[in-house]
Amino acid sequence: MSFTSNTGNAKITVPDIQQRKSQVASSPTNHKKIVCLTAYDYPTARLLDEAGVDVILVGDSLGMVVLGYDSTLPVTVDEMLHHTRAVRRGAHRALVVADMPYGSYHTDMAESLRNAMRFIKDAGAEAVKVEGGERRLELIARFSEAEIPVMAHVGLTPQSVNALGGYHVQGKTPVGAEQLLRDARAVEAAGAFAIVLEAIPRELAAQITKEVRIPTIGIGAGPDCDGQILVLSDMLGLTFGTTPKFSRQYAGVGEIISGAVREYCEDVRNTTFPSDAESYHTPQSGKNRKTISITG
Ligand code: KIV
Repeated sequence: MSFTSNTGNAKITVPDIQQRKSQVASSPTNHKKIVCLTAYDYPTARLLDEAGVDVILVGDSLGMVVLGYDSTLPVTVDEMLHHTRAVRRGAHRALVVADMPYGSYHTDMAESLRNAMRFIKDAGAEAVKVEGGERRLELIARFSEAEIPVMAHVGLTPQSVNALGGYHVQGKTPVGAEQLLRDARAVEAAGAFAIVLEAIPRELAAQITKEVRIPTIGIGAGPDCDGQILVLSDMLGLTFGTTPKFSRQYAGVGEIISGAVREYCEDVRNTTFPSDAESYHTPQSGKNRKTISITG
């Protein structure tokens, strides 16, 4: 066990993320903003971790960007656990947060607590994320009491797609904005260590960020939040169809994959792959080589 505070490559903890709030506030451009991204598997988790991402969220966006569902609603606890384990194996420095899928914390408290604990005990997540504000007060308090750090998520909460009637920017009316302020205060009071603000006006996000003492992580919430998160597949150009206006695309990985695969198809069909150098050969004589090794 280490009692040192986090510098450099040390594992990022929940208290580290909480402390960033005051560091960001005292110097907004001092590189203390909390950098978060989603990941769903071992190799991308490793790449994100090694690139210096602070928080990796195993988001239930998994359902849409990896599993091909129409929404996040069908995602199961078992699917989330499977992917959280893979991400955890790749993340050595970043804090790993697991999204609790729809239905896993909406029935009774005991069941919700058991599900949350599976993410910590079985999958190695260091925190869980739940969607909803005021209505999750009791749940967040109970999880916190059970030593399960909770990241809250308010604004556009994709698990509410049916109740909201689609994926729309939230908090645009005075009543909506007031509700979001109440939501943010409620999750803070209940013990959440951070709060995701999704698809809300930047002015409202700035006000919430100023009012609450826990870090705000924005996605479509403007630049004044304490940190930012994007869905990895969107920012890498690895999704189909349109992406939200807030999702900046940093690479065209989908095109790179398509190009590479088209080239491979061509090489196989015109017999330029594999070459002789990429083939194994029968040993010239049994005297020198007893077995054919995988490398030579
Ligand atoms: O599931 C997810 O990826 C998320 C982020 C968009 C915050 O909840």
